[in-house]
Amino acid sequence: MTPLMPTWRPVRAAALLLLLPLLVIFPIVAQAAPQAQAGPRQACHAVSRAACDTAHALGRGVNLGNMLDAPREGDWGVRAEPFLIEAAASRFQTVRLPVRWSNHAAPTADATLDEAFARRVDAVVDALLARGVWVILDVHHYSQVFGDPLHPREVEVAPQVVDERLVNLWKQIARRYQDRSPRLLFELLNEPHRRLDGEPWNLLAARALAAVRATNPTRVVLIGPGDWNHPRALPQLRLPADRHLIVAVHTYDPFGFTHQGVTWRTPVLPTGVGCCDATQRQQVVSALEAAAQWNRTHGVPVHLGEFGAHVAADMDARVAYARLVRSEAERRAMGWAWWEFAADFSPVYDPWARVWIEPLRRALLDDKDVR
Ligand code: BGC
Repeated sequence: MTPLMPTWRPVRAAALLLLLPLLVIFPIVAQAAPQAQAGPRQACHAVSRAACDTAHALGRGVNLGNMLDAPREGDWGVRAEPFLIEAAASRFQTVRLPVRWSNHAAPTADATLDEAFARRVDAVVDALLARGVWVILDVHHYSQVFGDPLHPREVEVAPQVVDERLVNLWKQIARRYQDRSPRLLFELLNEPHRRLDGEPWNLLAARALAAVRATNPTRVVLIGPGDWNHPRALPQLRLPADRHLIVAVHTYDPFGFTHQGVTWRTPVLPTGVGCCDATQRQQVVSALEAAAQWNRTHGVPVHLGEFGAHVAADMDARVAYARLVRSEAERRAMGWAWWEFAADFSPVYDPWARVWIEPLRRALLDDKDVR
């Protein structure tokens, strides 16, 4: 016993009393917080802790493409069926859910959502959330907002209401999902380009984000740059002042490889292109490094929301490409999502035989296969 004891004891008791609430609160907070992964981290000095941890927790993901983003679900051959949701959620940490809301809403400025379609999206979102995955819900293929020709069965609207409709779509989507888990993220618009490149997208994104923030003050929202979300357009992106953001980028470099034989492009690019020689590797690395450098400067984490290689390419080359992009993204602490799960661009799962396309599954998901 030292003479200090009598005064030390009350101090220690007081300290314990002060710490007690922390001991109770910490496990609750720790449980609610996203599971941050060990390893490299992106710079996060411009965002909240939650946005930063979310970006790192997104990890390995896949796009449920060509389903709810077709003009009508089923038009492009696949539907978001329960067995597909189950399979995707069983292996990936994140599912990006592209949705063509604009084609299921009034053609007027208010863009009132078709309730039956919105309920269909609710069911898919909720099934995914129930499986514990992160869900990135976007607005996909609103062709008119980019000034693109419409897809067959896509509804045309008056030019003066095109932008306002995007804002009003977000007002409704955000209100609809305001009570869902923080594992649901919103992405304002897939691949802005053409009419929206540069300042027009900065202005419209700010309006769409404000519509979201009216009901979802802290939900993490993804915003990507123009030029189809390519990292080379990041210098033109001016983000709204908001601490709950992640920036979305896409890369299909080397394009002559990833888009060979795609028939919806003219001219159709020649097939028989392999991957990945030194020049092709450099294209992948420089796109991802541009994103990483932007992140270091701006302190907003970056997510690679799409990459993939068309089925016309040789399987070994697609496997080499998948490994390359995935490992270069992971080296930079970037979560990623393969385009796509079970449709006809670059599936990792065969929806007809109901089996994984093993070489691609391994290339994307097996640690031992990554160089
Ligand atoms: C588009 C898809 C397309 C893919 C690859 C996506 O953003 O929505 O329709 O297959 O990019 O080009």
